[in-house]
Amino acid sequence: MTQHLPLHPRDVPTFFFIGVTTRKSSIMTIFPRWMEALGRPEVVIEGIDFPLHDKPSHYREMVAFIKHDPYSLGGLVTTHKLDLLAASRPLFDELDAYAHITHEISSISKRDGRLIGHAKDPISSGRTLNALLAHDHFARTGGEVLCLGAGGAGAAIALHLMHASDRPRRIVVTDRSPARLLELETMAAAQGSDITFELHQAATEPDSDRLLAAMPAHSVIINATGMGKDLPGSPLTDEAVFPMHAVVWELNYRGELRFMHQALAQKQARHLHVEDGWNYFLYGWTQVVAEVLHQPIEGGVFDALARIASQSRAGQG
Ligand SMILES: NC(=O)c1ccc[n+]([C@@H]2O[C@H](COP(=O)([O-])OP(=O)(O)OC[C@H]3O[C@@H](n4cnc5c(N)ncnc54)[C@H](OP(=O)(O)O)[C@@H]3O)[C@@H](O)[C@H]2O)c1
Repeated sequence: MTQHLPLHPRDVPTFFFIGVTTRKSSIMTIFPRWMEALGRPEVVIEGIDFPLHDKPSHYREMVAFIKHDPYSLGGLVTTHKLDLLAASRPLFDELDAYAHITHEISSISKRDGRLIGHAKDPISSGRTLNALLAHDHFARTGGEVLCLGAGGAGAAIALHLMHASDRPRRIVVTDRSPARLLELETMAAAQGSDITFELHQAATEPDSDRLLAAMPAHSVIINATGMGKDLPGSPLTDEAVFPMHAVVWELNYRGELRFMHQALAQKQARHLHVEDGWNYFLYGWTQVVAEVLHQPIEGGVFDALARIASQSRAGQG
């Protein structure tokens, strides 16, 4: 069910999903089945849709409601992660280290009457990469990273890699926006990372093709631009050539996914491993659900929830 502001006090334990078109997300059908599996069938999910860059007062109203309503357990934030925190920071009693670094939150939870914000994306993107890459991938292969797009997801992946024990020597990042690249450069400098960051304002697809062609074998190539879902097309042309043995990661799992199809067309010839955003979605959601419900979701429990989600995905065709 999707609700709108103003909200009315809840009479059942409620997990909020704060986004733009929450009704369309697969999580709406998956969540009730997850709650059954976790032994918490009484917890319901409510989608709250805000327009992009909504008024700060609306974000504050939402966060204040969760803070003060006893049945509101917390929730997951997409799209509005930066705007919501900027508007409501004084309402939080605690923010985790990644929220301080990235100035955004994806998780709102409560503990002992305190309202807590977490930026989970560096953790969930890290888990996805760890599941995707063989042990010591970068150290063993000399592969590097090309991340097309330096928005919230690109920055979260870069932040994870800066603190990873197995990390690439070099990360090449592109964005259309010089401001995004500057933010990433500032963050990397503040973290004192030993990774060489090469930042490029890539205005056109042929620019991205050229950067791709210069990546070594075994590199990880990421589409973090939203092109192929939020925007039409791909950051690459159809003539782009992926490095041999590259790991190609499209962050989305629905939409035209043109970048992913460009990689799939070269999968055999270039020995590529091609991954969509489904596991990232699963790690992102389970991280936040675990925080909000105060219930660890690891190992066999994660696998059970992943199976339930896959059944729902298959059921939706
Ligand atoms: N599977 C999951 O659970 C999951 C989780 C997180 C994110 N995602 C997906 O990942 C994508 C990125 O998320 P985000 O939060 O980082 O979005 P975002 O903050 O909008 O960042 C995307 C960035 O890419 C830039 N860009 C667009 N086209 C480009 C191009 N051709 N070359 C270089 N840069 C380009 C954008 O620049 P402009 O601002 O100038 O357009 C923007 O700075 C989204 O589609 C999102 O749905 C999936």
